[in-house]
Amino acid sequence: MQGVDPAWLPDGAFRPIGTRRTLIRGSGPLVDTVHGEVADACARFGGSVSREGSPEPYDLVLELTGPGDGEAFAFERGDGRTTVTASGGPGLLYGLFHVVRLGDTAFQGSHDREEHRPDVALRMLDHWDNVAVHPVMGQVERGYAGGSLFWEDGRARGELLGRVRAYGRLLAACGINAVAVNNVNVHETEARLLTDRIGEVAAIAAVLRPYGIRTHLSVTFAAPMVLGGLSTADPLDAGVRGWWARTTARVYGAIPDFGGYVVKADSEGQPGPFAYGRSHADGANMLAAALGPYGGTVHWRAFVYDHRQDWRDRTTDRARAAYDHFVPLDGQFAANAVLQVKHGPMDFQVREPLSPLIGAMPRTRLAVELQATQEYTGQQRHVCWLGPMWSEVLRFRPEESAAVGELARGGLVAVSNVGDDPFWTGHPLAQANLYTFGRLAWEPGADPGRILDEWIALTFGPRPAAELHAVLDGSWRTYEKYTAPLGVGWMVQPGHHYGPSVDGYEYSPWGTYHFADRDGVGVDRSVATGTGYAGQYAEQWAEVYESPDTCPDEVLLFFHHVSYNHVLRSGKTVIQHIYDTHFEGVAEVERAREVWASLAGLMDPARHARVAERYEEQLRSAREWRDQINSYFLRKSGVGDAHGRRIY
Ligand code: GCU
Repeated sequence: MQGVDPAWLPDGAFRPIGTRRTLIRGSGPLVDTVHGEVADACARFGGSVSREGSPEPYDLVLELTGPGDGEAFAFERGDGRTTVTASGGPGLLYGLFHVVRLGDTAFQGSHDREEHRPDVALRMLDHWDNVAVHPVMGQVERGYAGGSLFWEDGRARGELLGRVRAYGRLLAACGINAVAVNNVNVHETEARLLTDRIGEVAAIAAVLRPYGIRTHLSVTFAAPMVLGGLSTADPLDAGVRGWWARTTARVYGAIPDFGGYVVKADSEGQPGPFAYGRSHADGANMLAAALGPYGGTVHWRAFVYDHRQDWRDRTTDRARAAYDHFVPLDGQFAANAVLQVKHGPMDFQVREPLSPLIGAMPRTRLAVELQATQEYTGQQRHVCWLGPMWSEVLRFRPEESAAVGELARGGLVAVSNVGDDPFWTGHPLAQANLYTFGRLAWEPGADPGRILDEWIALTFGPRPAAELHAVLDGSWRTYEKYTAPLGVGWMVQPGHHYGPSVDGYEYSPWGTYHFADRDGVGVDRSVATGTGYAGQYAEQWAEVYESPDTCPDEVLLFFHHVSYNHVLRSGKTVIQHIYDTHFEGVAEVERAREVWASLAGLMDPARHARVAERYEEQLRSAREWRDQINSYFLRKSGVGDAHGRRIY
């Protein structure tokens, strides 16, 4: 699309297909999409595409073998011909993009038949987009890439077919198959998308459908009151249930393949079942009952905690909240109700342990929620490729029997980092996070470094591959080094969450404290002397986290309050670790910025310039983090830096 960055689908990525002869067999809307893609490529590069089998030789055959909607495909090459077969339209589309990723190698030598299928059925992006610009949160809550892709001037965009179609194409090319089009905090205007404005959602769904993407909607639990004029939203009230059933029937009238509802209830001020003395299972099951006849799903978020805590109250621990609320409800949720759990117990900090809820509810379908939008990881002004963090989360084994990627039977979800910015994600390198999420959701056990290389090769071509890999691969650990240390989190400026403020949340109602004093820092979450949070894990992890001697360094301050002279497993004291990592983090940003500068001339100048400009801000901000954190801890502890470096 004109004026919009092609991201990981530049024209050149289609050259290997566009210069060859392709036969497409089968019919249906997604086969038409596949045909359109190949025909466009051939128009650009001189190849040919046919839908009739004639005796002439073909280089590529894309064949739909059944009427289904499956996502699997098979790939093979022999006798000079590459073949993709699939029994469902989405599978054929994913097979096409597999060929795009392979490039020329798809057409060289021979390849044994390989079967590909996603490990996770639902791979979803949640957009925190408001239709109307919110006075505090703007149009996209925690959005760092401009306005919304879907909504403009209070309505669905007029030119949906351009940008949203290009977006759907990018998502299909990395394996995403579901999108929720509005914010989980559902304000007044957005509530009406469910009823009189459902036509606008249907228009978006129509544009995404040819790319195998189903549309979901965030709804307010109070909808029967705010939209239906009822006096209650009690999930056990017959009138309320009837209202949801009728409303949901109309939604499916407008969008027959509608995916379902996303609900943030009794969380940060949103309405929910607690007001009626009902449980979250009661609330979720009511919506599941309304969606069930149409094959829809309710994604019920587990982000429930007390956001009005008194900081003096040491008995309440926000990290415990999701487990305490939801584990007793295991087994009570309907089959089409999915509990959507943030990967960590707090809120998308640069480092958190895994949420103990994951693995603790064997009779409930869980979806794991990640955050692509970089709320706490540099807000798309800093380079922070989250692939290694997500991969650690997905490969983590809460119990020996299964990894998180396998326990996420209800899907993998990421909060989107996309907006109407010409580079989609504000920071052009943040595109790597979106791409990586899609590919990891398809295969949670995949090596993230391989996915990064795929993204680099598609987006930039072969030239700067090694340098780009180096710049991105370590960027999450670099970010971790210059921000809050050893898993303690927060220390950000309140409200917008950008930049350091060590005590910004220390006396706030949000339950986000580090408890630094002159002797030490960290939160005692042990069973023996602390909040007991460590005991929410299965035995093997509960034991590891319980003692500072066995607790992994990177989450030590999440689980324990220790003295500044406590010796880490690395052999360093906590205070020296803080100083060293903060100096190192800034030095790593300085080096990455130089590497980036050396790549000018190897890519589109606008893209190079946008990243170069953001590196200036990242470096300024990293220095600010380093100096505030180091000065704060020097002043608190009185312990100097062993290397005598400058601390203020
Ligand atoms: C974070 C974020 C909010 C968001 C919330 C959520 O707290 O700062 O903007 O609404 O998460 O996930 O619901």
